[in-house]
Amino acid sequence: MGIEQLSMYGYVSKAEVLADARRYWNPDKTEFWQAEGVPLVVGERSGYGLTDVDGHEVIDVHLNGGTYNLGHRNPELVRTLTDAVQHVDIGNHHFPTPGRAALARRLVEATPGADKAVFGSSGGEAVDVALKSARYATGRRRIVSVVKAYHGHTGLAVATGDPRFSQLFRSDHPAEFTQVPFNDLDAMTTALAGQDVAAVIMETVPATYGFPTPEPGYLVGVKRACEETGTLYIADEVQTGLGRTGELWSVYAEGVVPDILVTGKGLGGGLYPVSAALLGPAASGWLEQDGFAHMATFGGAELGCAVAAKVLEITQRSETRDNVRRRIAQVAAGLAELCAELPHTLTGIRQKGLVIGLEFGATGAKPVMAELYRQGVWAIFSTLDPAVLQFKPGLLLTEPETDEILTRLRTAVRKVAAHG
Ligand SMILES: Cc1ncc(COP(=O)(O)O)c(C=O)c1O
Repeated sequence: MGIEQLSMYGYVSKAEVLADARRYWNPDKTEFWQAEGVPLVVGERSGYGLTDVDGHEVIDVHLNGGTYNLGHRNPELVRTLTDAVQHVDIGNHHFPTPGRAALARRLVEATPGADKAVFGSSGGEAVDVALKSARYATGRRRIVSVVKAYHGHTGLAVATGDPRFSQLFRSDHPAEFTQVPFNDLDAMTTALAGQDVAAVIMETVPATYGFPTPEPGYLVGVKRACEETGTLYIADEVQTGLGRTGELWSVYAEGVVPDILVTGKGLGGGLYPVSAALLGPAASGWLEQDGFAHMATFGGAELGCAVAAKVLEITQRSETRDNVRRRIAQVAAGLAELCAELPHTLTGIRQKGLVIGLEFGATGAKPVMAELYRQGVWAIFSTLDPAVLQFKPGLLLTEPETDEILTRLRTAVRKVAAHG
């Protein structure tokens, strides 16, 4: 299997790929994964399985943050894409098209409070659109986000995130971007009190920070503080949306109707990049005034629109929703058992549906990540809280597949615990 992936590009060994990756692609990142015990060079992929070009097979519960919610090369999505390419291409971004109009309508209708959809090709781009729209609507510049936030690496998005990513590129702008601790409503209220903030941007469960869950009433309190100060609430659902918590979007279950909702990653089914900022009436005015104010050649590419419409259809099917509910319960039971067995290693579980962070306290998540990889499961540590392993099972996993993941996790955690 892996051999075909190698020969397609003229390589005869994995070592050659790694040498070129080091030399021409990203030396630091290439070395990092070798050193951390995840020497993955993905070859074949299908369903929730990945095969390294050296033949090592793993079940993917990283899913690139939800990009592969519906699996790798989901057959229905592959068919949709290959059918679409018989007739359309990326399209001309200046004109309305049936695929673009239909996806916009479908997204707006599925999102209470939304009025218009602006398309991009990445989450960061859609976050930038959301922030620009809020600035347009309020005439204000300041943006508030949470400490350890991560909303992408584009111009405005990176400035809302942790300095870990913005400072290297001189992209932190302290005068315009304020950060307050997550779950601290007083700090948020104080930050908004001057009535000079255009928007608060929040992930319902901050992913890169290790999925700390919002305390009851916190997000509703933030929304109320926004309403009282003329600030817009942007829900970043790039990781938490698209069915992962049992609902299409997780923020509504917290009692919040956002002014803007951002989606990306899984929207393109892992096959064609597409993202969207769904603007409510408070933020969509610029589209009436100046439709050329934001442009992106690949934004709302027609091939991506075709795939995304199918992604929404599959995600909203009752069988998919039922499956997600069953998997949520199955995973919760398995994790609770493991936590009871090894409480000094698996020190806590953060779970909102299939958005899950596993806390490994002093052990840290990296040794577990490496052992899991050896056991045949790929899950990533949280960059901004390395004690937490991100654990994101797919929406279409079967019961036996989920049992297999839990069994491998148990083996890995036991091994790490035994080695202290
Ligand atoms: C919550 C969140 N928002 C935005 C982004 C940015 O998405 P992209 O990498 O497609 O720009 C990410 C990426 O991981 C994310 O996790």
